[in-house]
Amino acid sequence: MLMRFRRLFLVFILLLPTGTGNTLAQSLREQADKRKLLIGAAVNPGRFSEAPYAETLAREFNMVEAENVMKWGGIRPAQDKFNFGPGDQVVAFAVAHKMKVRGHCLLWSEYNPAWLAKGSFTPEQLSKLLEEHITTVMKHYSGKVFAWDVVNESFLANGKIEPSIWYDSPGIGLAEKGTAYVEQAFRWARAADPKALLFYNDYDTEGLNPKSDAVYEMAKDFKKRGVPIDGVGIQAHIIDLDMAGISSLAANMKRLTALGLQVHITEMDVGLRLEKTGALMDQADLDRQAEIYRFVATVCVQEPGCAAFMTWGFTDKYSWIPGYTKGAKGKALLFDQAYAPKPAYRALREVLAR
Ligand code: XIL
Repeated sequence: MLMRFRRLFLVFILLLPTGTGNTLAQSLREQADKRKLLIGAAVNPGRFSEAPYAETLAREFNMVEAENVMKWGGIRPAQDKFNFGPGDQVVAFAVAHKMKVRGHCLLWSEYNPAWLAKGSFTPEQLSKLLEEHITTVMKHYSGKVFAWDVVNESFLANGKIEPSIWYDSPGIGLAEKGTAYVEQAFRWARAADPKALLFYNDYDTEGLNPKSDAVYEMAKDFKKRGVPIDGVGIQAHIIDLDMAGISSLAANMKRLTALGLQVHITEMDVGLRLEKTGALMDQADLDRQAEIYRFVATVCVQEPGCAAFMTWGFTDKYSWIPGYTKGAKGKALLFDQAYAPKPAYRALREVLAR
């Protein structure tokens, strides 16, 4: 009798939907699929072997993006050497779980390998290197990566172009010519993979401000002159819990989509204040965080041109925020260190369910 009961109990357990008790309702992914919305997360393929990491990712998201392994610093260990292995693992995971892959990124002032950042190249050499890089990487992932952040973070907060190796130090030969170097990168990208969607991606560009104005003016100019650009990525690394800076997100998104561009929310996280011990300073911040996720996701689902919503990682266990803020902030994502969904997760699910 006891054996029988045990067997029955086992059958009952096996019939329960997979995942934790908290996720018996539909996953983010199921709801996003119904809306034809892409819901994604930045990933590190080195974690795919951790079962809850892989399970949560495949269950909740229909898109992945490499957090680092497709950047210059990950994919190009030496001038004459490309390391596609880790990026290929991201693609393989996506194929196995029927997810899309977003590419990040082909030109950035940061995360460049030392041989590039500390090398001494002429503008002509840098120009050749960049064209070769964009072409080689995009051709390798052609048909696998559907959209690329071609250029990442080119503007300062005041809307001026940020000095960088690609712009003016020494640049690819278009120094002091404003967004001409960005334009050149987009032209090479279109030639390399005509089917991939090409994005410009930046941070602190959620609301209307001098920086998002500069992004908008560039996009408008590119559209007018036929420079190939398909979308703008709004990173959404949110620092202020008061939402002041992001309250005009809808207006900003609208002016971009009115140009015929897609918008993707590309790197959302909301870092919370931490004690020295790593504990939350204020438990109520979890609810404030949930409201910020709710706000951004609501703006996205209400704007037809907002085609994707992505977070920068998905578990607090592996977020870049504690490292970046030297421990001052953390717990920025949808799942806690143990992969349990947080209030932010539930808020997002409510938005997608509506
Ligand atoms: C960050 C990664 O999360 C870190 O692991 C890495 O050390 C530095 O880059 N904006 C971007 C991302 O576009 O590429 C950055 O990712 C976070 C800010």
